[in-house]
Amino acid sequence: MKKIQHPLMALLLLATALSVACSADRTETVSSPDGNIEIKFCLTPQGEPTYSATYKGRPIVANSLMGFEIKDAEPLTGGFRMDGVNSSETHETWAPVWGENDSIVNNYRQMAVNLSRGDLKMNIEFRVYDDGFGFRYLFPEQPAKQYVVTDEMTQFAMAGDHTAWWIPGDYDTQEYEYTRSRLSEIRSHADDEFMPNVSSQRFSPTGVQTALLLKTDDGLYLSLHEAALVDFPAMHLDLDDSTLVFKAHLTPGPDGTMATFDTPFKTPWRTVTIGEKATDILASNLILNLNDPCALDDVSWIHPTKYMGVWWEMITGASSWNYTDAENFDLSTFDYSKAKPNGRHAANNENVRRYIDFAARHGFDQLLVEGWNIGWEDWFGKEKDYVFDFVTPYPDFDIAALNKYAHDKGIRLMMHHETSAAVDNYDRHMDKAYDLMKKYGYDVVKSGYVGNIIPRGEHHYSQKQVSHYLNAVKKAADKHIMVNAHEAVRPTGLCRTYPNLVGNESAMGQEYQAMSPKHCTMLPFTRLKGGPMDFTPGIFEMDLSKTAPGNKLHKNATIANQLGLYMTMYSPLQMAADTPDNYERKMDAFQFIKDVPLDWSESRYIDAEPGEFIIVARKDKNSDDWFVGGVNAEEARDVVLDLDFLDPDMKYMATIYADGKRANGYTNSNDYSISTREVNSSDNIQVRMAVAGGFAISLKPII
Ligand code: NOJ
Ligand code: CA
Repeated sequence: MKKIQHPLMALLLLATALSVACSADRTETVSSPDGNIEIKFCLTPQGEPTYSATYKGRPIVANSLMGFEIKDAEPLTGGFRMDGVNSSETHETWAPVWGENDSIVNNYRQMAVNLSRGDLKMNIEFRVYDDGFGFRYLFPEQPAKQYVVTDEMTQFAMAGDHTAWWIPGDYDTQEYEYTRSRLSEIRSHADDEFMPNVSSQRFSPTGVQTALLLKTDDGLYLSLHEAALVDFPAMHLDLDDSTLVFKAHLTPGPDGTMATFDTPFKTPWRTVTIGEKATDILASNLILNLNDPCALDDVSWIHPTKYMGVWWEMITGASSWNYTDAENFDLSTFDYSKAKPNGRHAANNENVRRYIDFAARHGFDQLLVEGWNIGWEDWFGKEKDYVFDFVTPYPDFDIAALNKYAHDKGIRLMMHHETSAAVDNYDRHMDKAYDLMKKYGYDVVKSGYVGNIIPRGEHHYSQKQVSHYLNAVKKAADKHIMVNAHEAVRPTGLCRTYPNLVGNESAMGQEYQAMSPKHCTMLPFTRLKGGPMDFTPGIFEMDLSKTAPGNKLHKNATIANQLGLYMTMYSPLQMAADTPDNYERKMDAFQFIKDVPLDWSESRYIDAEPGEFIIVARKDKNSDDWFVGGVNAEEARDVVLDLDFLDPDMKYMATIYADGKRANGYTNSNDYSISTREVNSSDNIQVRMAVAGGFAISLKPII
């Protein structure tokens, strides 16, 4: 036989082979409400479940296998018979507790295919929306009480050698920059963007993470992800680059198996979002819609939170989290009162009061204080189990007095629980840690999981860990605490069900200090599709040696770029990440950070291209104000912004924060201009976004 040279040839042969194998009487079809997306489920003569998807007749997913391999039993990939199909349509509207819009339409057609093999039952449920589809596996009650999954066999057979924006598949970190390449080129780029991380485990040179953004040669945008990841390991994608078929790749547990579940059970949704324009992907609510409605009865205590932090000074190296320079000690016996302070501890009473004064004066809700608690001497890279107790402050942090000081000034402190990935230790201390928060009036916790997971063998995205993160959120909800977890599994829309999950990191954030300007034009297309990110925007001093002498890094962004991020990176929890000193020098630009809302009644993605730029307009949930923002990457760009979204019966005062004429995020970050103008809905505003630049505009009705 002739050797197949081109991946597309192999793909065509595979697609033909599978489609020939499916006869019409074993094929079931469901389409989106507008009829554009069609999903075909087909059981092959060998009883193998397969599916394919088209958009306006164009192939999106070619015939793809489904099912699982399970321990000590025949794989759940064949030998099935179809017992029946249930179809339905849903059209409803729901209101998120916070978000980019105050109401979301949930309109889909559903098809559930009921399969059996002897007394084993496995149903597959498809939901098809106008902007994409999802499917999941359901295991009804059945004689087999438990399944141990050794592999997931779900495929996503790509219909072309698409352009992909990807980060490497990794069981432990998503803190990577994105690489843009053809699918067939992933292997050759696999090590290009390798970011050293204290905890990282890659599994394949063609493994990638979700949400994976793709663009077809005829201009369609696709996003592959998962929704409602509950009690199951996170799914990566492993590409067979000779056929362009992705296979689901689950994060293993310590014994090498992937997941254990009791019946009845439902897996997370495997999802494909489809858009004709890049902005369709940004505006899609598919992932949220596939999650369950809010599970909390009372949500009155959940609120958007704008905060500052005793943080950037440690990140840049100006000061330390740790109080002493002692190391490798037993936390239960170490006597801090006798230890020599290192003189660089940032979370000290005087410094924290200085931050409280500034944050309160400028209307912030909260102040995060990291390094307030004992244990930071041994936090990094030590794989120590009892590394923190989460309740004992350092001697120079008077927790009662500082909370009173903050409350008297009308703000709260924000709690910080770095776990150093010693997860069992955190679980052992969680109740007491949350109770301490309640005692002093904290209602948001930033948690973190830096390092290899203890117990050893677990990964950041394995089943046990995934359950831990959600349990922490549920337990917090019982105590009316909001959670922002760093280094946890990337979100999959669970903030709909648990809206006290107000943030996650789970991507490369501002803590990396210097990163490509492209990165912030990628995150809303990828990481943010699962939920908000605590990116921590708002750096105003890009020459980092000015914040931390000796730091040689330069943040490649303009001031207007950092302001634009408050618009393009939606989150109900938003930080002003720089120090009071750095803001004091640019208080005119700081005004935008003070003004920008964190909760919206309406969002309109105006224009975007991944890796290049994003522009969005949003209407405040609590007023008639509109705000617009843009971020830009490597090429300067002129923007003509039509204001046709404004109320035609109103006049507005526009305040425009723009890049100055000579601004450039690499070489001239500080050049910005602020101007005001009266406008109405028939006007436009012209702004130029510099290299690594952006803009931000507030539009307030003139009454
Ligand atoms: C990593 C987090 O992303 C960062 O925000 C935090 O300051 C450090 N861990 C210390 O907890
Ligand atoms: Ca991090």
